[in-house]
Amino acid sequence: MKILVTGGAGFIGSHTVLALLESNYEVVVLDNLCNSTYVAIERVEALTGKNISFIHGDINCSNTLQQLFAEYDIGAVLHFAALKAVGESVQYPYKYYENNVSGTLCLLQAMHYADVNMFIFSSSATVYGETSVVPYTESLALGSPSSPYGASKVMIERMLADSAIAHPNFQAISLRYFNPIGAHPSGVIGEDPKGIPNNLMPYITQVAVGRRKKLSIFGNDYPTKDGTCRRDYIHVVDLAEGHVKALDWLQKQTEFSGVEAFNLGTGTPVSVLEMVDTFIVETGQNVPYEFSPRRSGDLPEFWADSSKAQKELGWQTQLTLTDMVIDTWRWQKNNPNGYE
Ligand code: NAD
Ligand code: UD1
Repeated sequence: MKILVTGGAGFIGSHTVLALLESNYEVVVLDNLCNSTYVAIERVEALTGKNISFIHGDINCSNTLQQLFAEYDIGAVLHFAALKAVGESVQYPYKYYENNVSGTLCLLQAMHYADVNMFIFSSSATVYGETSVVPYTESLALGSPSSPYGASKVMIERMLADSAIAHPNFQAISLRYFNPIGAHPSGVIGEDPKGIPNNLMPYITQVAVGRRKKLSIFGNDYPTKDGTCRRDYIHVVDLAEGHVKALDWLQKQTEFSGVEAFNLGTGTPVSVLEMVDTFIVETGQNVPYEFSPRRSGDLPEFWADSSKAQKELGWQTQLTLTDMVIDTWRWQKNNPNGYE
């Protein structure tokens, strides 16, 4: 039985493919490379000494999916493929609904026709919306995220719930990631955002490596200890391991049908200033920064209650903020221009 990983050439997908191969799963990757490169796949192959079947294709193409499910004996799908730039989604909502929502629908239909019933979805803390109390627990109702990107995650979670009602064999997990950062400790694979990074960590490392002049810290007047926003940053290697545990869990379930959600975070919030300071101290690099106005849509602080994943999946984070910072820096230093 093979595992189909959509979006497996991307940041989180590539680290998860590596973790799956190390746990002796056989992997087929489907990726249209719209935000990634095949080099990431080659590097995972080199790191593990194992082959990855790769299909350069789109989740929105039913023919590709039909052929894929006919050719490979797929037992489960890990679904990472999506567009993820929050600001861009506000500007181009149709692009996001087509790629993320319609693409997932196409994938779920193809799975249904091929009688493939195990599904693990890359969801996000953004599904809790803007008014939930912290720490976020899975029992909270789905919220109303302000961006089409966030809304696409909520819509897909809803689609999964409806699939489970209609198809009793369907077994799905939504993994709600908090803020994934870090890189594999080899420094060979990591996050390689195209253009100007939207997220904090890649921006910090690009300043440190000299690709950008200085970091703008969006807001220092939030109701937090140091006035900057706090987030629950999680090492991508811990996150990848969470997927292996989720897959192991699904395969052990004989009675379960439906959808379960699990938060994947550390449970410890870190402020923007704390992150910058930790980076400077741990790497010895200079990161010039200035305070600038708040970014629209940002929440002051949120973090995960991940006790459900610990109890049910036997998963908890192993790596520290120092590991996150050092591993990200090793990747950036060894690959100043990413995979190029
Ligand atoms: P990424 O952009 O690095 O990876 C996504 C991959 O999907 C890329 O390789 C891209 O080429 C591929 N892809 C996109 N649309 C596709 C399509 N229509 N058909 C085939 N392939 C397609 O992003 P990532 O950070 O690795 O995120 C992976 C998943 O996790 C996404 O679903 C994202 O929304 C979710 N997520 C990410 C974060 C984060 O901070 N990185 C947080 C929460 C959730
Ligand atoms: C963002 C997305 C969220 C998504 C998450 C993970 C928004 C509004 N939210 O969350 O939907 O799930 O990424 O991909 O975009 N910061 C700076 N300067 C920068 C970049 C960021 O000060 O150049 C600050 C932000 O204001 C925030 C913190 O750093 O307070 C973390 O930002 P980011 O990495 O973008 O993550 P989120 O805002 O949590």
